[in-house]
Amino acid sequence: MQAPVMQEWIDVGPADLTEGELRGLEVGERLVLLARLNGRITAMDDSCNHAGCLLSGGWLQEKKSAVVCPCHEYAFELGTGRNVTFPRLCDDQRAFAVRIDAGRVMIRLDESSEGSPHGA
Ligand code: FES
Repeated sequence: MQAPVMQEWIDVGPADLTEGELRGLEVGERLVLLARLNGRITAMDDSCNHAGCLLSGGWLQEKKSAVVCPCHEYAFELGTGRNVTFPRLCDDQRAFAVRIDAGRVMIRLDESSEGSPHGA
């Protein structure tokens, strides 16, 4: 029996986000946030690890290249999910690798190679 493929790219829809857009998606049982800033599309968990609010209801902070949670205004860096708020009262968000393929957004639900695994 073959081992399951661990790192599968998943098509999560058209790469038609407008500049500054936050888009919340359901991908299987996971809530995923897509964001577009300076032409780059990134993905992370949409459910904030602080208290579960949806980051897709928040806003972008261009200076930190981060998304800000609407509930308690913690900011998470796009691309890495790193919590860039001080004091750091919650963890980093899980970020996902993204690639654009033939006008579609493809993501991988394992940890982004760009992201910092928790505790590292
Ligand atoms: S739920 Fe996101 S900052 Fe509190």
